[in-house]
Amino acid sequence: MPRLEDKVVLLSGGASGIGAATARLVVREGGKAVLADRDEARGRALAAELGAAAHFVPLDVTQEPDWQAAVAATVATFGGIHGLLNAAGVGVRNSIEDCTLEEYRRVNDINSLGTFLGCKSAIGAMKAHVGRSGGGGSIVNISSVLGLRGAAHAVAYSASKGAVRTLTKNVALHCAQMKYNIRCNSVHPGYIDTPMIAPRLEQNAGNMSGRQALEELHPLGRLGHAEEVANMILFLLSDESTFSTGSEFVCDGGLTA
Ligand SMILES: NC(=O)c1ccc[n+]([C@@H]2O[C@H](COP(=O)([O-])OP(=O)(O)OC[C@H]3O[C@@H](n4cnc5c(N)ncnc54)[C@H](O)[C@@H]3O)[C@@H](O)[C@H]2O)c1
Repeated sequence: MPRLEDKVVLLSGGASGIGAATARLVVREGGKAVLADRDEARGRALAAELGAAAHFVPLDVTQEPDWQAAVAATVATFGGIHGLLNAAGVGVRNSIEDCTLEEYRRVNDINSLGTFLGCKSAIGAMKAHVGRSGGGGSIVNISSVLGLRGAAHAVAYSASKGAVRTLTKNVALHCAQMKYNIRCNSVHPGYIDTPMIAPRLEQNAGNMSGRQALEELHPLGRLGHAEEVANMILFLLSDESTFSTGSEFVCDGGLTA
């Protein structure tokens, strides 16, 4: 039996990387995927490739009206909403001394405030569709290993992902207290080979290539693949994970071990 049969999932960042890999799995597992992204060309192309079980909506995650429109379009297109993946994000390298106020705000607006708006906008529609019984609804927020620990070179990114980690717990506890039958968990990837880290792979680090330097951070000796993170997200979106909420799911090749 497909693992997401008849479940409707809205995915921010669905045009690329981890979001796109998850959208493919959602459709493969019998669900409906609404790809929401500011990259309209890639998002529309992937939705067209995935066929009738997929739909694209333009979304800037920092804009509340965009989120409200995306949730409304999801319900109008597929009749409800059971799952939300907050995967849209940007990765930036900077330290506490060289990060400008403007850059700090930009990164935190997209990664942290965008996730807040996603949860806030979707819960109202989700609770109307998941009911009190059955598997219920599931929200998955992509944090990072840098939401679990610091890094001298990633002040804005790490702070934004730490916020996603604890926001997730607040959402989970609120939904549990209100008996909405909606779970909320965070996923913490190590370095995953997606367009986000492509510039770093090309920069030399000392006598190593950027790719080698990042690979060496992981005890498994390689970067992760988007599909490996998507498999963890699939578990969390499915009814296989109904006793997990407010938890941190790490997918990092042993990096934080
Ligand atoms: N790749 C990694 O090594 C890694 C590691 C840990 C966590 N993450 C997180 O995983 C998530 C997905 O990243 P990815 O690696 O797939 O990167 P990616 O660059 O392939 O995908 C990110 C997507 O987010 C979209 N996006 C960016 N800003 C947006 C905005 N304001 N509104 C709407 N869409 C926006 C982009 O258009 C893109 O499609 C991000 O939250 C990222 O921080 C990635």
